[in-house]
Amino acid sequence: MDSENSFYSKIKGFSVGDNNHLRLNGVDLVDLSELSERPIYVVNELAIRDNLRAYRQALEQFYPKPSSLFYASKAFLNSAMCAVLNQEGVGIDVCSEGELFIAQKTKIPPEKIIMHGNNKSEKKLRKAVTSKIHRIIVDNYAELILLHKICSELDRSCNILLRINPSIEVETHKSIATGVKESKFGFYMDRAQVPEYIKEICSGKYIHFKGIHFHIGSNIYDISSYEESIDIIIDFIDSLNRQGIKVEDLNIGGGLGTRYTNEDLVPEIDPFVQTVCEKIKASCQEKNLELPSLMLEPGRSIVGEAGCTVYKIGAIKEGYNGILYAAVNGGMTDNLRPSLYQAKYSAVIANKMNENGKTCAYQIVGKCCETGDVLIDHIELPLCSPGDVLVVFSTGAYHHSLASQYNKHTIPGVIFVREGKYDWVSKEQPLEDLTQYDIIPTYLGGNHL
Ligand code: LLP
Repeated sequence: MDSENSFYSKIKGFSVGDNNHLRLNGVDLVDLSELSERPIYVVNELAIRDNLRAYRQALEQFYPKPSSLFYASKAFLNSAMCAVLNQEGVGIDVCSEGELFIAQKTKIPPEKIIMHGNNKSEKKLRKAVTSKIHRIIVDNYAELILLHKICSELDRSCNILLRINPSIEVETHKSIATGVKESKFGFYMDRAQVPEYIKEICSGKYIHFKGIHFHIGSNIYDISSYEESIDIIIDFIDSLNRQGIKVEDLNIGGGLGTRYTNEDLVPEIDPFVQTVCEKIKASCQEKNLELPSLMLEPGRSIVGEAGCTVYKIGAIKEGYNGILYAAVNGGMTDNLRPSLYQAKYSAVIANKMNENGKTCAYQIVGKCCETGDVLIDHIELPLCSPGDVLVVFSTGAYHHSLASQYNKHTIPGVIFVREGKYDWVSKEQPLEDLTQYDIIPTYLGGNHL
């Protein structure tokens, strides 16, 4: 088994300086740790750009019809990320009013925005219609009716995809398997009625049916799950086609996994895209179907490995049964994934990179008031002392976006690193923010009118 300390060498951008410090794109992470008393999310901007380009190039190389890439912004979103998307010419998938607000505020053009959600509010749908976003991905029949009502009131049209649940088991945590029959997403029980729905709602001037969407889940390592679901969905498209309904677009969601530890065998972007493209071509050929245009909406595989979290170790103490706790200046508030999904991580002591001496087993715990606030259950590290800098890898996706203020810890800031340079792209939340929205009514002694 590879040692914990070698994990970083598999991730783009990491190196070790002459001072035995871990660096990312030439930036010393021990120096960065001095910038805050809170943890810091540090993100390799170049890796994000590489991954976006890898997707686009592979789509161009392996898919003969038009294809487009929409970054799933739920993985990580701030204004700088949108600026990178704009520069790279990549679109965005939003699933809330908040995500749409950020995308629009940062001038992502409407034709580069697609919208998700299994319970979209009327307000959100109105915004999507009036903004003329590229595609609204409709989750259920009630939404289709509501959208039609909105469009006729506004006398505006929109382009939609219908989200179909392929009912397929995938190897991932059960909370993030979205294409299983037990999932709340998409058309499942009433799949057979979809052609009627399309004929009923989409034959007028308001709702233009453009195609089908599916998303089988997240953090998937086994590409054969995609091949299986493509077969199911192309069958479905074939049945629509035979009923005179033309499918122009096929959106196969996101879901490609990220390497969190040496045990994770993650396909690279290029072979992943090649496999799905070839499968779509073969399935369509078999059914004599015209190839649809292809849409992909990955999140984690764009930003996951690009990010790491820089912590400082504080209290170290011995616990029951010989366990050695090393507590960091963050915890489940900046990384909820171990508590939610029993996720595993790799980490190093960034100021002791080439120490070949004795190692010791630690449990990395946070500073939140819960016994379950464990970031890494068991890890071998060089002997730790308070003040050491712990860097946890692959925290670029679903960490900043899942962060909370539990115990009134403030949300850590985010730094992008380029070649030897760094910039804050999200400020650390200031303490003053914690009372910003509080109101003390007059009967409690406040002066609120
Ligand atoms: N498209 C749809 C419709 C989705 O629901 C998702 C993720 C994606 C695309 C992007 O999937 P990705 O490429 O990032 O796997 N909080 C969880 C992950 C939840 C994923 C939700 N949907 C985690 O930390 O593992």
